[in-house]
Amino acid sequence: MPIVRDKKIEILFSAEEIAKRNSELAEEIILSDLKNPLVISILKGSFVFAADLIRALHHAGLSPEVEFISITSYGGGIEAGKPKILRDVESDVNGRDVIIIDDILESGGTLKFTRDLMRERGANHVSLIALLDKSERRSHAIEADFVGFECPDKFVVGYGMDVGHAFRELPFVGVVTGEA
Ligand code: IMP
Ligand code: MG
Repeated sequence: MPIVRDKKIEILFSAEEIAKRNSELAEEIILSDLKNPLVISILKGSFVFAADLIRALHHAGLSPEVEFISITSYGGGIEAGKPKILRDVESDVNGRDVIIIDDILESGGTLKFTRDLMRERGANHVSLIALLDKSERRSHAIEADFVGFECPDKFVVGYGMDVGHAFRELPFVGVVTGEA
């Protein structure tokens, strides 16, 4: 079991499994026949997944534009849990085929907020991609069009996902199981 920052990490999805799944996802995505797509990666958690997926898309024959939006769902008081834009995209999404990428689909609040925003701005089509789906935790009526893996209801780290900004560099997705 890998030990990082004096913690034992159980591997849930290995680097090899993720790479294989990314290629499969790219092949599925190109079948949806998107016109000059605009990929929007939701920061920060999806940056590693998005970096790999856009290169898998290149290998599959797709040449998207790539943008970033920073969304937070955290904060206190009556606004707690309500997604907010910390940094917006620069592109005009009006009339565009938009592909939104996130790391985890959990309650669905983040992807629903971002999808609705792009629709309000006049996107022609919005597709949603999540590396991991914690479907048991859903509280909004939303599903992703493309999912990497169904995820157990555990707090996961690695492959861009963090706890207190740590563990993002891990090439796999794992769970911190305790002190080493
Ligand atoms: P949702 O809005 O409830 O669907 O939550 C999705 C967001 O919560 C994702 O963009 C992640 O950034 C974050 N998140 C949910 N579960 C985890 C986890 O296990 N590890 C790290 N981040 C998580
Ligand atoms: Mg996130």
